[in-house]
Amino acid sequence: MSASSDRRFVIVLAGVLGGLVSIALALIVIASLTTRGVEGQPGLQTARLSERLAPLAAVATEATAQPTNAASAAGSGAPALSGAQVVQQVCSACHSAGVLGAPKIGDGANWGARFKAAGGVDGLAQVALHGKGNMPPKGGDAALTEDQVKVAVQYMLAQSGIKH
Ligand code: HEC
Repeated sequence: MSASSDRRFVIVLAGVLGGLVSIALALIVIASLTTRGVEGQPGLQTARLSERLAPLAAVATEATAQPTNAASAAGSGAPALSGAQVVQQVCSACHSAGVLGAPKIGDGANWGARFKAAGGVDGLAQVALHGKGNMPPKGGDAALTEDQVKVAVQYMLAQSGIKH
């Protein structure tokens, strides 16, 4: 290798290195502009990021924002749920299809016999409150009030054609 080709190699190498350094500097400047933003404005990437990271939904933790349910009605005295609602939410699990030998809603003969044996609505309501055989106390929902259990019994009787 001659001295002149050595010199040419050094010049070319310096040129390539200089070019790479200026490209790197340009990339750094572009990156800082897009992420940090200009004059206090959030950069393009930062804005997009916070948009993507935003939660899908917020959870309401205020007591007033909670829907009322059987549990919150317990102790308040007033039945917040109608007989139909209690039956739909609790009792129908067994009494719709006759699960575990439960008298089916609409089975007038079955309900009629039980109505007589228990001595009326109040007797049946007492059984429903305390349980019997496979029938759990309050149908398994301890949050139900006595009133709610009774209106549920009345509703199932009415649906089964039992006058009371
Ligand atoms: C886990 C199933 C189940 C759920 C839930 C359930 N019951 Fe029952 N229920 C039964 C079964 C089983 C019987 C029959 C018990 C027997 O005669 O031995 C029964 C019987 C009854 C009877 C007749 C009692 C009697 O003296 O013959 C009443 C009244 C009654 N349930 C009311 C309710 C009410 C009100 C609810 C809802 C608050 C409810 N049940 C929820 C299973 C259930």
